[in-house]
Amino acid sequence: MDLEKFVQYVHEENKVEPKDVMPDDYRKLLVRQISQHAHSEIVGMLPEANWISRAPSLRRKMALLAKVQDEAGHGLYLYSATETLGDGSIRADRDATYDDMLEGKAKYSSIFNYPTLSWADIGAIGWLVDGAAIMNQVMLMGNSYGPYSRAMVKICKEESFHQRQGYEILMALCRGTKQQKEMAQASLNRFWWPALMMFGPNDDSSPNSKISMNYRVKRESNDSLRQRFIDVTVSQAEFLGLTVPDKDLKWNEERQHYDFGELPWDEFMEILKGNGPCNKKRIETKRKAQRENSWVKEAAAAFAEKQQKEVI
Ligand code: ACO
Repeated sequence: MDLEKFVQYVHEENKVEPKDVMPDDYRKLLVRQISQHAHSEIVGMLPEANWISRAPSLRRKMALLAKVQDEAGHGLYLYSATETLGDGSIRADRDATYDDMLEGKAKYSSIFNYPTLSWADIGAIGWLVDGAAIMNQVMLMGNSYGPYSRAMVKICKEESFHQRQGYEILMALCRGTKQQKEMAQASLNRFWWPALMMFGPNDDSSPNSKISMNYRVKRESNDSLRQRFIDVTVSQAEFLGLTVPDKDLKWNEERQHYDFGELPWDEFMEILKGNGPCNKKRIETKRKAQRENSWVKEAAAAFAEKQQKEVI
């Protein structure tokens, strides 16, 4: 494989497709990133599902149910995109990548290791977490691997609905009673810094960025996406009448960007090591689901086999 030609090919904005020849480290990078992205979608269902039975109205319950179901769909697209990369050198089937997550060998987004303590947190997740996810995923629509890039187009459309439903929940709370507005503020206080950490470590501490950018998987750096997210989100907080919990947040006229405080990187590192507030709970929930529900997979496989025999 001519590496130079491959790099030139992706730099000319061509898409790589599953059967194309590709460098091993490109394949490996994609399996790591896309499968971790899929795990994030699937684990990300848990904090929100926690509030389905307690949504304050039927309308809110229906929207939340639909949103959580969308996240399952995103996970499935992404596992399918990952599976297109399997070959003799690397396993990429869903069982293998999922087991890696259950065994703590593969990550999922740090944000889903925080608890959802109030209904306002469902608003904050939609507004901030899905908002940050969109910022990253719009960039990923332009990534060089065809199946991943195409999955991102549909996912981004759905995520923008999620972001709006979250913001609308907070708008209702902020226009409500004093206690409701306080609940919204408390939720922003809890989710602001964790949402900023979703973009990953600072660029100079990001070991995967260089190769990822060269292969046109990542199109923008962690820090530049984080900055853009802050720049668009501050005015949304102001519109709600909420205060962003960062005393160093200040518009910088010269840079035409907000300056902001240092992120709590120690907390981020602890979460990555499995020591966040909900890491153990999330993994245990997923392990339990796998133990108790494996019969569903077995039944579906048996049914598919039976149908195939009938066709023959
Ligand atoms: N949570 C957990 N792990 C993270 C996070 C995070 N927020 N940010 C970075 N990491 C991990 C990386 O996965 C990497 O570990 P690994 O090598 O074991 O995989 C390590 O920290 C170093 O980070 P980077 O070198 O910056 O890693 P990378 O270039 O992969 O960039 C990023 C990280 C931006 C998250 C990238 O992988 C990406 O864009 N992923 C796809 C999008 C995604 O997964 N979004 C999750 C939320 S989507 C949702 O809302 C459901």
